[in-house]
Amino acid sequence: MKRPLVCLTALLSLSLPFARAATLVGYAELPADTFAAGPASGAFADGLRGKPRFAGQPVQGFSGVQFGPGGDFLFLSDNGFGAKNNSADYLLRLYRLSLTAKTSPAAQGGVRVGTFIQLRDPDRRVPWLIVNEASPKRLLTGADFDVEGFAVAPDGTLWVGDEFGPYLLHFSADGRLLEAPLPTPNLAGLPTLRGQAPIVIGHRGSSGTRPEHTLASYRAAIEGGADFIEPDLVVTRDGVLVARHEPVIAVVDASGKVTEATADVANHPEFGSRLTTKKLDGVDVRGYFVEDFTLAELRTLRAVERLPALRGRAYDGQFQIPTLAEIIALVRDVEARTGRKVGLYPETKHPTYMQAAGFNTSQLLIDTLKKEGFTDPARVFIQSFETANLRDLRANIMPKAGVNLPLVQLVSSPDEAPYDWTARGDARKYGALTTDAALRDIATYASGVGPYKRWVIDERGQTTDFVRRAHAAGLLVHPWTFRNEPPYLLPSYAGDPEAEMRQALWAGVDGFFTDFPATGAKVVGQFTAPEVRSPQSPAFAQGASSSAANLGASGGFEGLSRSPDGKTLYALLEKTVAGDVPGQLRLHAFDLATRRWTLVGRYALEDAAHAIGDLTPVNATDYLVLERDNASGAAAKFKRVYQVSLTQKNPDGTLKKTLVADLMNVRDPQGLAPATRGGVFSFPYLTIENVIVLDASTLLVANDNNYPATGGRGADVKDRTEFLWLKLDAPLNLAAGVGRR
Ligand code: G3P
Ligand code: CA
Repeated sequence: MKRPLVCLTALLSLSLPFARAATLVGYAELPADTFAAGPASGAFADGLRGKPRFAGQPVQGFSGVQFGPGGDFLFLSDNGFGAKNNSADYLLRLYRLSLTAKTSPAAQGGVRVGTFIQLRDPDRRVPWLIVNEASPKRLLTGADFDVEGFAVAPDGTLWVGDEFGPYLLHFSADGRLLEAPLPTPNLAGLPTLRGQAPIVIGHRGSSGTRPEHTLASYRAAIEGGADFIEPDLVVTRDGVLVARHEPVIAVVDASGKVTEATADVANHPEFGSRLTTKKLDGVDVRGYFVEDFTLAELRTLRAVERLPALRGRAYDGQFQIPTLAEIIALVRDVEARTGRKVGLYPETKHPTYMQAAGFNTSQLLIDTLKKEGFTDPARVFIQSFETANLRDLRANIMPKAGVNLPLVQLVSSPDEAPYDWTARGDARKYGALTTDAALRDIATYASGVGPYKRWVIDERGQTTDFVRRAHAAGLLVHPWTFRNEPPYLLPSYAGDPEAEMRQALWAGVDGFFTDFPATGAKVVGQFTAPEVRSPQSPAFAQGASSSAANLGASGGFEGLSRSPDGKTLYALLEKTVAGDVPGQLRLHAFDLATRRWTLVGRYALEDAAHAIGDLTPVNATDYLVLERDNASGAAAKFKRVYQVSLTQKNPDGTLKKTLVADLMNVRDPQGLAPATRGGVFSFPYLTIENVIVLDASTLLVANDNNYPATGGRGADVKDRTEFLWLKLDAPLNLAAGVGRR
């Protein structure tokens, strides 16, 4: 009998289509209808209290496993009947299981359910109402927490990962909650210059929703969540800085038709004589120019929409052209009323042209900021497309005025050039400002660069190395201009402006200019919300926060484990946090001594629709992860064990992982499992949530049967829990202390 068996094994190892294989060397199962002592349960099957369906407490499903005493295992019950609203009578427990593996066709395997540890909160550590609020024991239920993984600390206390918060829960060895649930900090890990939160710059205010450069536009930007508002500045005949994108406020063609306008000046016959042609940065422009109007004259005009075909004319004729001083007053008013410190991001337009017209707008800007007392360097960035004026500000104007504000060198498209260069006969274009040496030179006078966004994400939608190189020079990067309208979006975003913003944030930009700051603030807010919260988070029910959920339901700490040295918990989310790259899951470290959370890295699912089921250590830097598709039975295709490194990363920054075992293709040459066919065992349960390393070559794996679910072994067959002892082809590099001692 032995000889044919060896041949069959060899044959299977040759034919199975996977890189790393495992062999079933032990098997046991627990019938679905296994109950433990406790109150009747299942009364909330429809969300409303009905008749209990079960006389006691279902023992399954299981969502986590650790070694128990006496050679037994501890299995963590999942949250009950699958949802918060149907699990209020399911008690959260750790069951002690004695497992006997069937290791040969003649052997008998089995599972004996022993005692349990009841999770409870008699000391009222949970700061919100729980199901059993008024009872002295305050037993915790599946409507209070959705417990998905656990670890045993060196002091014997239990740490449990929850999905509703998600929270870390700390229990005594006998299940008493020791402290308030620990919320999950939002460690977005964006690669900004100094790890700071990116800023949203309201480009010309909220120019996508109101006529640009009006107080209404700036107010809308602030209400939408802009951190900074951007006034482009030109100057009136009497030397007052006002907000317009260009000195020309209406461009008129040879036939007398207005081809672009930001003010209704053409409707004012009293100013007809001001129509003129000027050379603006070397180009003839015919129209009406702000520097030909006094402020009083300008006040008689009203703003109009610059892009009416795209944005309509609903607000035309309603708003005046504001001065810089009025914009500062608006910002101050917001601060006085709300405490919010919005910043200003002024751009002096066409400095060379303005100088020729007799105005040093850099000097005017500093004078105005000083006069208005708005010189906090944390609330001002001064930007320019030219270079000489920025150098002058840094070297002369600001030192003489006793102010020191951060400057930003704007970098336009490669076919354009800083006009101060052109004016002095220098033929170089903006590309000359993007070399490593040029970026280092910019850093001698500026704090950041404001590139045309194609320098950061090219026409093919590929992220370039621009941000990395600018950061290497010590420069902030604030690209422009992000707009919601499809004509401004690359096809790869499929009309989704948030996708473009997210890509820029992943690239590490320190902020961005957008015509739609409300959209920008929403996207940035996903990364900067203080906590990761699922829709079921009790924080919402308790009114603790008004911020939106940023994690999908059932996306919490499915994976929780302890480092072999006992110092660190590792907690892996099951779903992608909003704003993160789809299919990438945050892996957190929680230092048990300092209570400090850090982001270890991101686990990359093989498919964004997959989920993880468990996390368990191999050694200090390598952990096993269960990864599965969202299907069961015949539809199931993907149930695998991977080894993930906490220290080695892929080029995209995700953690390196290698396949350890394909649970859909396990060799079972002895036919130990009833489901084995042709020497191949597959494990097509929807959720597989238990894995632990027994020794360097052997894993114990078990499914979560989601009691009373069906489908894993047939549409009408109640899912049981199956326990697999898997021998790996290649042994793991096990650390001391890992595995059954
Ligand atoms: O200033 C940077 C950003 O505003 C883009 O330039 O032409 O809109 O002033 P622009
Ligand atoms: Ca600008």
